[in-house]
Amino acid sequence: MTPSLQTRLQQLANRKDEKIRILFVCLGNICRSPAAEGIFRSIIEERGIADRFIVDSAGLYGGHAGELPDPRMRTHAFRRGYNLTHHSRPVRSSDFSDFDLILSMDDSNYSRLRAFAPSPEDEEKVIRTTDFCRHHPGATHVPDPYYEGAEGFEIVLDMLEDACQSLADSLE
Ligand code: 4NP
Repeated sequence: MTPSLQTRLQQLANRKDEKIRILFVCLGNICRSPAAEGIFRSIIEERGIADRFIVDSAGLYGGHAGELPDPRMRTHAFRRGYNLTHHSRPVRSSDFSDFDLILSMDDSNYSRLRAFAPSPEDEEKVIRTTDFCRHHPGATHVPDPYYEGAEGFEIVLDMLEDACQSLADSLE
C-alpha cells in the first residue's frame, strides 16, 4: 500500500460529517464484486458501523445487467453466511463522483477503470482490492472464477474476506 493511499484512508476514516462511499468493481458484476459488497456489508454490520458507509458494486461488462449473482457464487457465499441480493449493473461515469474508493478485482478492471476516470483526482480513487489482503501475500488480483470449479469460488471468498476485514480496519 502506498503512503498516499494510507493518507487517503486516514482522511476518510476521520471524516465524520459524510458517509464513506465504496464501490467494488469486476467484469460481470455477478461473481467477485457482488460477493465483496455482501462481505463488506456484513462486516460493517457486525461491527455496528454500517451507518457510516454506502456500499455498492458494478461491472465493466454490461451483459449481465439486472441479474442476481451467479448461482454458484450465491451458494458458496450463503454457506459462509452471506445472502447476495445485488442486481448486476454496469459502471457509469457518475460512479467517479458518487464514490470515494473504487476497488478493482484484477489488472484489467484496474486499467480500464483508470482509463475511464473523468479526472486525475477520480483516477486516484481506483485501487486494487488485493492491496488490502493480509493473508494472501504477493496476490495482485482476485482470480475470475467464472470458468472455474468450486475451488475457484472458495479462493475468491477467502481473498475477499481477508481484504474486506482489513479495509474495514483501515476505515474504522
Ligand atoms: P465476475 O465474473 O467478473 O467476477 O462477475 C465474470 C462473470 C461473467 C463473465 C466473466 C466473468 N462473462 O464473461 O460473462
